[in-house]
Amino acid sequence: MPRISAKITGVARYLPPRLLTNEDLEKMVDTNHEWIFERTGISERHIVDKGVAASHLATEAARQLLEQKQVAPEDIDLIIVATVTPDMLFPSTACLVQNNLGAKRAWGFDLIAACSGFIYAVTVGAQFVAAGTHHRALVIGSDVMTSIINFEDRATCILFGDGAGAVLLEPTADGEEGILDFHHDIDGSGGQYLYMPAGGSLHPTSHETVDKKMHYVHQDGRQVFKYAVRRMGEVADLLLTRNSFQTTDLKLLVPHQANQRIIRATQQRLGLPDERVLLNIGKFGNTTAGTIPIALVDALACGRLKKGDLTMLLAVGAGFTTGGLLLRWAY
Ligand code: UT7
Repeated sequence: MPRISAKITGVARYLPPRLLTNEDLEKMVDTNHEWIFERTGISERHIVDKGVAASHLATEAARQLLEQKQVAPEDIDLIIVATVTPDMLFPSTACLVQNNLGAKRAWGFDLIAACSGFIYAVTVGAQFVAAGTHHRALVIGSDVMTSIINFEDRATCILFGDGAGAVLLEPTADGEEGILDFHHDIDGSGGQYLYMPAGGSLHPTSHETVDKKMHYVHQDGRQVFKYAVRRMGEVADLLLTRNSFQTTDLKLLVPHQANQRIIRATQQRLGLPDERVLLNIGKFGNTTAGTIPIALVDALACGRLKKGDLTMLLAVGAGFTTGGLLLRWAY
């Protein structure tokens, strides 16, 4: 009996149309395009209008995916939404998306792993598909980071954007294609370096939490940067070595887009040429759980990802959470 595993059979994304450029930010905080571009690689990011939430972006991305694949909403078995900016704590964003799509047979849930969320969600969805109990899993990364950003804090407000991407997971009996391996780990000692202090059970919302700006992202950028550079390289090495691949076998690395310098450092460590690393942070900023599926759409559109290509998805995020997925692209 061939071993069943999961493969990605479609990708789509949705970016809200409104743009926030570095020049716009210059008018809001003490910063300038040169600093932002040099330190991060970001020029502009998409942002939502008031009233647009993670479920709306997720639903749009999912609708496009189903249309592209000619899959009926009723044929979806499972919906996992990776997000740190759910519309509300409950019901889950997955429930809202399920209802918007009319995916009547699907169950689902939200998964929190910050910037590693999409990779974690693909891994979880793939387990159900590989088990043979689910045939079509919809995995979505969607974040409205502008809902938790302090636009008076120049160290964080320049980094993030809003957006969503979705993939469809389906079974494969071809042992050579689809998801080959993953490695995930968490290091909770890093929680203090990137977090949103209030709004949970520790600091429920109060006048005080609002006055103290505790509902925004708080970050020690240097600590996160150092950890990300080290772990991205380590996990990439681990996955390649464990599967007896050389760096030269890797056709495309699709890293989480948090900072161009983190990506370039990882690329350098692995010795990959530019054309084998997907970099699109310039147009979108850091959309947290959205970056990797959003980047996959670009990779396919510009012909840098083809059937049979050995591909790696890689991310480090708040937690700290680290994730890597090795796959052979299946279409
Ligand atoms: O997805 C995971 C989420 N987060 C990340 O991956 C973020 C990882 N960290 C980073 O990307 C970088 O640490 C940042 C881009 C956030 C910051 O870059 P940096 O090179 O680490 O700068 P820094 O924080 O060390 O700050 C350098 C200087 C400081 O001034 P002084 O103290 O040297 O006078 C900052 O006050 O740059 C100043 N600065 C700014 N200047 C102009 C900080 N933000 C800005 C700004 N514009 N927006």
